[in-house]
Amino acid sequence: MNAPASPRRGAHASVRHDSAAGHVTGRAVYLDDMPLPTNALHAALVLCPHAHARIGAIDFTAALALPGVVAAVGAADIPGVNDIGPILKGEPALAEGVAEYAGHPVAAVAAETLEIAREAAALVKVEWEELPAVLTVEDALAQGLFVAPPQVMLRGDPDAALGYAPIRLSGEVRCGGQDHFYLEGQIAIAVPGEDRDMQVFSSTQHPTEVQHGVAHLLGLPFNQVTVEVRRMGGAFGGKESQATIVAGIAALLARKSGRPVKLRLPRDDDMAATGKRHPFLIRWDVGTDAEGRILALDLTLAADSGNIADLTPAVLARALCHSDNCYWIPDIRVTGLACKTHKVSNTAFRGFGGPQGMFAIEALLDDLARHLKLPLDTVRARNFYGVGAKDTTPYGMTVEDNIIERVTGELARSVDLPGWRDAVDAFNASSPVVKKGLATVPVKFGISFNLPTLNQAGALVHVYTDGSVHLNHGGTEMGQGLFVKVAQVVAEAFAIDVAMVRVSATSTAKVPNTSATAASSGSDLNGMAALAAAETIRGRMAEVMAGQFGVPPDDVSFDDGRAFARNESLSFGELAQLCWSKRVSLSSTGFYRTPKIHWDAATCTGRPFFYFTYGAAAAEVAVDTLTGELRVLRAELLQDCGNSLNPAIDRGQIEGAFVQGMGWLTSEELWWDAAGRLGTHGPSTYKIPGSRDVPPVFVTRLLEDAPNREATVMRSKAVGEPPLMLALSVWLAIRDAVASVGPKGAKVELDAPATPSRVLAAVERVRGGEQPGVGPPPTGPGQRSNAGVGSGS
Ligand code: MTE
Ligand code: HPA
Ligand code: MOS
Repeated sequence: MNAPASPRRGAHASVRHDSAAGHVTGRAVYLDDMPLPTNALHAALVLCPHAHARIGAIDFTAALALPGVVAAVGAADIPGVNDIGPILKGEPALAEGVAEYAGHPVAAVAAETLEIAREAAALVKVEWEELPAVLTVEDALAQGLFVAPPQVMLRGDPDAALGYAPIRLSGEVRCGGQDHFYLEGQIAIAVPGEDRDMQVFSSTQHPTEVQHGVAHLLGLPFNQVTVEVRRMGGAFGGKESQATIVAGIAALLARKSGRPVKLRLPRDDDMAATGKRHPFLIRWDVGTDAEGRILALDLTLAADSGNIADLTPAVLARALCHSDNCYWIPDIRVTGLACKTHKVSNTAFRGFGGPQGMFAIEALLDDLARHLKLPLDTVRARNFYGVGAKDTTPYGMTVEDNIIERVTGELARSVDLPGWRDAVDAFNASSPVVKKGLATVPVKFGISFNLPTLNQAGALVHVYTDGSVHLNHGGTEMGQGLFVKVAQVVAEAFAIDVAMVRVSATSTAKVPNTSATAASSGSDLNGMAALAAAETIRGRMAEVMAGQFGVPPDDVSFDDGRAFARNESLSFGELAQLCWSKRVSLSSTGFYRTPKIHWDAATCTGRPFFYFTYGAAAAEVAVDTLTGELRVLRAELLQDCGNSLNPAIDRGQIEGAFVQGMGWLTSEELWWDAAGRLGTHGPSTYKIPGSRDVPPVFVTRLLEDAPNREATVMRSKAVGEPPLMLALSVWLAIRDAVASVGPKGAKVELDAPATPSRVLAAVERVRGGEQPGVGPPPTGPGQRSNAGVGSGS
């Protein structure tokens, strides 16, 4: 008997990541594994040791005298313009005139070996004149220092509504930054070619921005710079704009030396020199009716932008657009402030401001619920967006696809939330020291770049005469599984198995003018572009098939690797061969732009998102109230992926994002000393979650029968960022555990990350007896102050 043929694998199948075997065997090639041309050089950076300093003379004499050193560059050696700003102009690759943070690259050297390059970098002498530094958001607010104008989102008359609200509460809370901690650090290899051409291999989410940055620095037209990336060893937003710094400096050294140059940052330099998630200081004033229905909210989100704007305006805009989360707020003002500090410039990080915006509203609702002595979920449910009413966001977008109650309801039922709550309460009643906490969180996340222009993508598809397919698109692979998903879409279009589709490295020479792979929209955008290309070719193939067998093209069908016309059929490869023999092109580009979206940045109104994704989570923690240590014991996640393109990949994204979110909210503390130097610049001092921090009970479900209402690729939904915010359930569960040591309704004061010292201090405050010697470190990021926000704007 013949074994049944394995089913064809196309869209919606749990196909494994195309590099899965390569990842686990170490055979997948990252930039640092690439064989270098024999004349290649290695580079190292010279970083500013001060938070703010004027740059005097840069003396390369000693460095260049070291045997093996070939070239050195500072800002003065830039042949083009020293500008790589992703949004605003004038943001330099190498500090010029002044350096504005400890870690700011001011110069770089290239040498025959990495060791010599690093030794030489230490020999570069820079004359520094130290200047006063602003290191906190409070000081920036007090001095009115911003990297961009404030953004204000306003609906109705929140001041008046606050005035007549029966219940009024205000508060302050903050969340910390986060290092991307990609396993593969920032790296680039620049290879000079003929006639000043420059080829750059870069670990970047945004090859086009690297192309532009390098072209600006070298004074070249874009067509002389080609940027290629096969894969990144993780990026998480940290290689959306930051990769350009590294690639740009490598290219400058390559130009100066005329030889290929590899620049790979050691972890400590990577953490000191490149941007992170924005920490936020949040202040709020809310008014509700007696049942906790929000009538008015005045919310201020003050971001620590660091020294330049980078992507901050867009991050803040997304924070504003997520400070409603799932809730209808009739009269509202949200003010976003981009505070300038003499620290590394913060940047994109998974969620892109969304996590901070949702952190604000969830913290506020948690305080409100405790104040009202109501369960948090009850207060939330009273404030959920409605269907057909109370369904407009503060920025004027109607929530057309609201499934909040379905998602939260399905989660609550699947985990027996009331029974779970009883078990936690029963445990706490008999456990004086270790206290458990339980909390849920609903998530609504908007999909599309919040700058409409960026929502476009291109693809290039070739069918060869054996029926194998070459696929290229503008998206980059960073471990998230974009390549396999887009390959599945193309396989589906041709009705062939995904194994027939080979995805090649992303290159600015194959698909031009691309957007970053970001905003979770990689598969939405590139999947559609690739589908368009494939459909063009399939149409031509159908015509050839129709001509061959004398049927109308509409009667040709494709199934299981074959094309059918009446009773005749050809394998996909045979048809490809036939097309070639008839001189019909088997290659096409494809293009996509997201419909329906628009945004007015001046008024903070529009429809910035094509659609929303939804999710909900419940988490249980145990807190040791004598030490502040904590464990996440159980997490239950339900995530909407629409008609998932690949449930196995999506599950990995959900689990990974949740654990990364846990890290942001619990253990990943960034700490700067009083001189503005980052103290947590390596794994020994910066604690990302390890395998043992993953909850022992960790259940992930994909919402079933939930096709995207909008016509996205195969009705799927984006998944890369939204589940990160499900981790807010962990932070809220910690607050629940802390609250359990105090009287009902006691206020919990706990910022993020909820490190043991913060948790312990929060426990002591709730107990009412602050003990000497317990509390956040006096100079650490746990410091609180009331200066500034609200009066600064
Ligand atoms: N998953 C892995 N493994 N590595 C990453 O670097 N980045 C995240 C997410 N998932 C990331 C990841 C971020 S910040 C985004 S925006 C999306 O992937 C980008 O890819 P996508 O648009 O294809 O989902
Ligand atoms: N996400 C990521 N990157 C971006 C965005 C966004 O919403 N907008 C502009 N750049
Ligand atoms: Mo993701 S922060 O949009 O790269």
